[in-house]
Amino acid sequence: MSTYFRYSHEIIVRPLYHIADFLYKPWDFFNVVYNRLKRKRLKKSLKFCGGNVYIGPQVIIDEPFNVELGNNTCVCEFTHISGLGGVRIEDGTMISSHCSIATITHPKNSYSRITDPVITKPVVIGRNCWIGTGAIILPGITIADNAIVGAGAVVTKDVLPKTIVVGSPAKFLKEVNL
Ligand SMILES: CC(C)(COP(=O)(O)OP(=O)(O)OC[C@H]1O[C@@H](n2cnc3c(N)ncnc32)[C@H](O)[C@@H]1OP(=O)(O)O)[C@@H](O)C(=O)NCCC(=O)NCCS
Repeated sequence: MSTYFRYSHEIIVRPLYHIADFLYKPWDFFNVVYNRLKRKRLKKSLKFCGGNVYIGPQVIIDEPFNVELGNNTCVCEFTHISGLGGVRIEDGTMISSHCSIATITHPKNSYSRITDPVITKPVVIGRNCWIGTGAIILPGITIADNAIVGAGAVVTKDVLPKTIVVGSPAKFLKEVNL
């Protein structure tokens, strides 16, 4: 590195970084406050929102007026819930990050897919369930109380109570010891 380059870097670029950093701080603070308010508003727009509910940053809930979140539930970062067909998540259930809960599907015929309305089916997740990170829950699925869905599972069939399912399609792995 030439002396001239090092000199100009120290005199010009480094102070610019400091100024940019200084200017970014209020923006960062504004962003945090804005996102908190956004999540508060999202909770208010739900069909039902119990007490002690955590909705993480970057969670997207479409048609929230069809989504119910019970007491002590959490929906972690980057999870997407499509609410059109109706979603009920009961007390004590934890949805990890990057999950997808789908309640909409389409006709398989390519013409009808464009012309016909979407097909909606509700998803129900019982009490004290744990949905692992990156899991996908398909339309019409019911996950019974105390079940666990492993990380990355694609749930295509109803899940029985107190069972752990993993994989794609999700299959029974073991029972949960309560
Ligand atoms: C499903 C889960 C709870 C099972 O945990 P566990 O009872 O300790 O299971 P084990 O580690 O004993 O694994 C048992 C078998 O299942 C397999 N397995 C475990 N989790 C799996 C998963 N998510 N997908 C596919 N296979 C899985 C293991 O490879 C192992 O297979 P093997 O017997 O052929 O070696 C756990 O693996 C999991 O997916 N946790 C989610 C973690 C998460 O999402 N964290 C986010 C923070 S909230």
